[in-house]
Amino acid sequence: MDSIIIEGGVPLSGKVKISGAKNSCLALMASAILTEEPINLNNVPKLSDITTMSSLLASLGLEVQNNKDNRSLCLKARDISNHRAHYNIVRKMRASFLVLGPLLAREGFAKVSLPGGCAIGARAVDLHLDALRRLGARLKLENGYVIASATGGLVGTEIDFPIKSVGATENAIMAATLAKGRTIIRNAAREPEIGDLIDCLQKMGAEIKGRGSATIEIEGKNRLNGSTHEVIYDRIEFGTYLLAAVITKGKVSLSGGKEILNREFLNKIGEMGVTYKSTSEGFMVDATSTDLQPIKVTTEPYPGFPTDLQAQMMATLTLVKGESEINEKIFENRFMHVPELSRMGAKIKLDGTCAMVEGVDQLVGAPVMATDLRASVALVIAGLAAQGETRINRVYHLDRGYEYIENKLAQCGAQIKRVQA
Ligand code: UD1
Repeated sequence: MDSIIIEGGVPLSGKVKISGAKNSCLALMASAILTEEPINLNNVPKLSDITTMSSLLASLGLEVQNNKDNRSLCLKARDISNHRAHYNIVRKMRASFLVLGPLLAREGFAKVSLPGGCAIGARAVDLHLDALRRLGARLKLENGYVIASATGGLVGTEIDFPIKSVGATENAIMAATLAKGRTIIRNAAREPEIGDLIDCLQKMGAEIKGRGSATIEIEGKNRLNGSTHEVIYDRIEFGTYLLAAVITKGKVSLSGGKEILNREFLNKIGEMGVTYKSTSEGFMVDATSTDLQPIKVTTEPYPGFPTDLQAQMMATLTLVKGESEINEKIFENRFMHVPELSRMGAKIKLDGTCAMVEGVDQLVGAPVMATDLRASVALVIAGLAAQGETRINRVYHLDRGYEYIENKLAQCGAQIKRVQA
């Protein structure tokens, strides 16, 4: 298993190209099930989660073609030859559950493994199931699988989500595009990745109103057509590199990433006293001569501060003088990085879903490991600023969501390498 070794203390300086959004791309890939015509996706990130989704779709009978440099995918669901999403794939990646809605809508039948819990919390799928039930699906649970059927097809309905869920909103939207009649979804999640999915579905011929709002109206169609779509940039990768620049007191230009999808995150960066501006290429952050201020952060559904940037922000705040506060409101167990950051000298007190971070003068490198993607990258960020060597184990978590992370950071001067353990 690979590890990443960082010799910390170098201010980052240079340019990082932000890739296509993993979370967007995964949902877009699942939408290919809805039509027998090809879906061409461009700006596809090279990540193991994308490979996992490709394998899942291929196992259902889709033709999956990568172009030469793996930046584009062509997905064709001419025939669905298998209706079961196997446990072996779904357990690796929760987003696999996104095939349930499209399979059911197109085929009237699907058998999809329950994803189970994960490191950051229980992460139920009850909202996905309730939404599909409302659309007329009959559901039963058997041997760890959801068996869903809708013999006469799904039927438009009203769905009121009790809490906002990105995945459940995406599953419900995709299913409703092929249901008979109109579906209204209330309290829908509003993440930009859902907007990207809606853009693609509209190009496929779906009739959807309310993009970007909490109420979405879908007029179901008999069939959808193929389409070509460019995946939006990854706002979480953008925030991660921005924080890597801040923690090292560096100056980095982020090409491809823009301000627009990261307003609340950037408000917090501004409160910390960091200088940034939009440029013709994307974005520039300058933390070279900044006296950083402590802040209070609460994670919330979009447009609030994203939970997927909480761990990276915490790593950064460990070196900001004074006391910062982080409240995690989305996942109940998303502080797995705290003990590892503490091993590097961070001072963090946990009280339920609240973390108080007292800035220290210096972090010290250490061997660390993480249990999920964003926690792993938070340790990379901490390692970039720490004195001495940090070794991050279990790099496969990073490879799920950060394309060529060591190359992108090395291009900005970081002393970082990947080694085989
Ligand atoms: C998506 C993102 C993930 C991000 C998360 C929150 C993808 C592939 N992943 O995950 O990176 O961290 O949004 O922004 O897009 N919940 C239920 N029942 C359900 C569904 C969710 O109780 O049926 C709860 C979850 O446990 C969690 C909250 O709702 O506490 C939000 O989760 P959700 O928005 O569904 O996250 P995902 O779609 O899994």
